[in-house]
Amino acid sequence: MRLLLIGSGGREHALAWKLAQSPLLTELFAAPGNPGIAEHATLVAIDTESHPDVIAFCRDKAIDFVVVGPEAPLVAGLADRLREAGIAVFGPSAAAAQLEGSKGFTKDICARYGIPTGAYQRFNNAPKAKAYIRAEGAPIVVKADGLAAGKGVTVAMTVDEALAAVDDCFEGAFGEAGAEVVIEAFLDGEEASFFCLCDGSHVLALATAQDHKRVGDGDTGPNTGGMGAYSPAPVMTPEMVERTMKDIIEPTMRGMAESGHPFSGVFFAGLMITAKGPELIEYNVRFGDPECQVLMMRMKSDLLPLLYACAKGTLGEASVEWHDDAALTVVMASKGYPGAYEKNTAIAALPADSDGAKVFHAGTAVKDGQLVATGGRVLNVTALGKSVGQAQSRAYALADKVEWANGFCRRDIGWRAIERENG
Ligand code: AMP
Ligand code: GLY
Repeated sequence: MRLLLIGSGGREHALAWKLAQSPLLTELFAAPGNPGIAEHATLVAIDTESHPDVIAFCRDKAIDFVVVGPEAPLVAGLADRLREAGIAVFGPSAAAAQLEGSKGFTKDICARYGIPTGAYQRFNNAPKAKAYIRAEGAPIVVKADGLAAGKGVTVAMTVDEALAAVDDCFEGAFGEAGAEVVIEAFLDGEEASFFCLCDGSHVLALATAQDHKRVGDGDTGPNTGGMGAYSPAPVMTPEMVERTMKDIIEPTMRGMAESGHPFSGVFFAGLMITAKGPELIEYNVRFGDPECQVLMMRMKSDLLPLLYACAKGTLGEASVEWHDDAALTVVMASKGYPGAYEKNTAIAALPADSDGAKVFHAGTAVKDGQLVATGGRVLNVTALGKSVGQAQSRAYALADKVEWANGFCRRDIGWRAIERENG
């Protein structure tokens, strides 16, 4: 099978690495890719925002299947255009991608299908939003409705903080994404991420993970795209997984199909495990980054036929196997991230991969023959281990061999799971 992978992050490097191991694969292209992905794929410089260019490339290279990594091309309708052109694609339609693209849309599905989630209201003006906040009190959560690169959410511990967040949204801090605001009850519990493939009418549970969103050790400091992750998430016991499937994922799949927008792709459910059980915080319609890196390390099965089954509606016949080991990934970022950081700093040396340990590239490029850091999150050092603790030791041992003066990482990824392991 001839494949085109869309994207350029650590998630896409992990997908490329895993897809490249498939006996079904004959050739892998990636647009735009990165230097890590280049080890497994031919990089192509097409403008992925131009849907006609992507389709022309697929025709020219006789591409059988396109795998879309990030959410932006999905929300922009790339999967729709490819399907119209008769090209199989992994990833939802623009209408189905509203599950991630609009928090209000997702909340309305939850309300209609009785999916457990925080009580909420949608607002398109500040005075009404503020009146609701004053009536409800704090803690309370204020969310820009649209895609805000993970930055549109304020978990407000005081009413004043929530009121300020409403002003930020309506004053344009998140652009168009903040033109509507969702205000939601604060959910108290432990967070977990749950990944599940869907072909529109069948679901296949993948695995669980937990990430660390804050930049600093001890989960302190500003939010980021994620500074590390591990899988499985101990809080997601088999009972919690079963309840999540029955109470959250299956009704969502039914709801999407009944609304005329069946969902095909991956559900990435952000959950809060509260005293009442799993409640939905949000959906993403793509693999998590860096959660995908730990999932791919743990997956024993061939990924390619699973993703293809989502596109073809044959997921009901599929199953998936996992290594028993835990996996953990440490994100190495440019000093200053998530604030301003210097670009194009040299990465002098990367350690070789070893059995069950690997460095995925997220924001790198080769300039004048030198590997350089181009993004905020730059490398994902990932390892397997018999426990989260062992995976952590192995990941940090590898991270310590990275020679990159301008890089930093958190030193405590996985602490919650490791505390549990150590009793
Ligand atoms: P989101 O972008 O919706 O995932 O929100 C970002 C983060 O804000 C989540 O990962 C949670 O840590 C937190 N969060 C979002 N909604 C809630 C909520 N209703 N209660 C408590 N924390 C929340
Ligand atoms: N790591 C969180 C995300 O991919 O949204």
